[in-house]
Amino acid sequence: MISTAAANQRVLSGMRPTGRLHLGHYHGVLKNWVRLQHEYECFFFVADWHALTTDYDNTSGIVTSCWDMVVDWLACGVNPNSATLFVQSQVPEHAELYLLLSMITPLGWLERVPSYKDQQEKLKEKDLGTIGFLGYPLLQSADILIYKAGLVPVGEDQVAHIELTREIARRFNHFYGGEPDFAAKAEAAVANMGKKNATLYQTLRRRYQEQGDHEALETAKALLTGQQNLTLSDRERLFGYLAGEGKIILVEPAALLTETAKMPGIDGQKMSKSYGNIIGLREEPLIVEKKLRTMPTDPARVRRTDPGDPEKCPVWEFHKVYSDDQVRGWVMDSCRGAKIGCLECKQPVIDAVIAEQAPIRERAREFTDNPSLVKNIINEGCEQARDVAQATMEEVRDVMKLASNKL
Ligand code: TRP
Ligand code: SF4
Repeated sequence: MISTAAANQRVLSGMRPTGRLHLGHYHGVLKNWVRLQHEYECFFFVADWHALTTDYDNTSGIVTSCWDMVVDWLACGVNPNSATLFVQSQVPEHAELYLLLSMITPLGWLERVPSYKDQQEKLKEKDLGTIGFLGYPLLQSADILIYKAGLVPVGEDQVAHIELTREIARRFNHFYGGEPDFAAKAEAAVANMGKKNATLYQTLRRRYQEQGDHEALETAKALLTGQQNLTLSDRERLFGYLAGEGKIILVEPAALLTETAKMPGIDGQKMSKSYGNIIGLREEPLIVEKKLRTMPTDPARVRRTDPGDPEKCPVWEFHKVYSDDQVRGWVMDSCRGAKIGCLECKQPVIDAVIAEQAPIRERAREFTDNPSLVKNIINEGCEQARDVAQATMEEVRDVMKLASNKL
């Protein structure tokens, strides 16, 4: 059960357009998104500009990859009625926020992000000495901050980016969050909550500020989140007033790490396109069967009569994802006792993967037969996303004392 404060948070996540997705994406990311969309207000987007940070020299596949990927999202059950789906480049406000944030971002913060050096090492053949590549975690920060997302589902490798985002938000709020008449405005906003809630807020605020009572802080936050009659900016003032800071313009997000089953590829390494070991989400059953039948097993089992050890076999990793205790017990016993052949052992996995893909393939077909359906979903999502992003940018320009449309 999630608390009301948590349930009111916005979730945002993005994926680079890599084209058709594979089982690793399904088990590692998409199943999680499908669950989250029922628990939170969710925004999921195609991070097409992020593709340019490493693949600026070949951009021809990006658009097709976007559509293929969105079809896969929809086929897996990401539901446009529950989540807002959009494409980053169609909400140019991301770029504006990125530019403004770049003005306050120390170079060292970006140079220290672990993926900066790691990726440069890994992709040696590419010239990644570009502003775009260095700035890519900051672009990600802008993606997150522009929606004031509280929770960002990401993998382990992205946690440092969320941490950077928090630091950027803090720095921004520090520079621009101060209003000259902040305290007076905050007090006026408190009064707007009605007498009972106002008193409660003040008590909790004092308990936090004077005694460092974190529970009081959390209760006060929940109180604010539940207030219907506060304007958005009053609510943010009151969040800031609680913590003793100025107005919070940009919200510090938290990473939402979910343990997911490690999805192995057909060679036992992590499933990844670059390793050439994937099973596509919409792969033809015959191909799936062939890939699994030919995948390597415990090398000790040269002949059927040689006992093996599932712990040394990539097929076992698939059983961990796809089989129940009974089947797993059968595998353990029969493999060690040389009672079955490897093909027999693989059959339940083959059946389970194909059964899992069947409804996905079918739903995908609905969308590939009807491309305008997908376009409409994305157009609508982009519009919703733009509304939110534009509202944030109005605020950002306002506190930065930049020209605004409201001149
Ligand atoms: N950087 C992420 C990746 O490579 C994708 C991404 C871009 C993202 N912007 C984001 C993820 C914002 C979460 C939130 O996987
Ligand atoms: Fe692997 Fe199964 Fe063969 Fe054992 S019997 S080596 S677990 S495929």
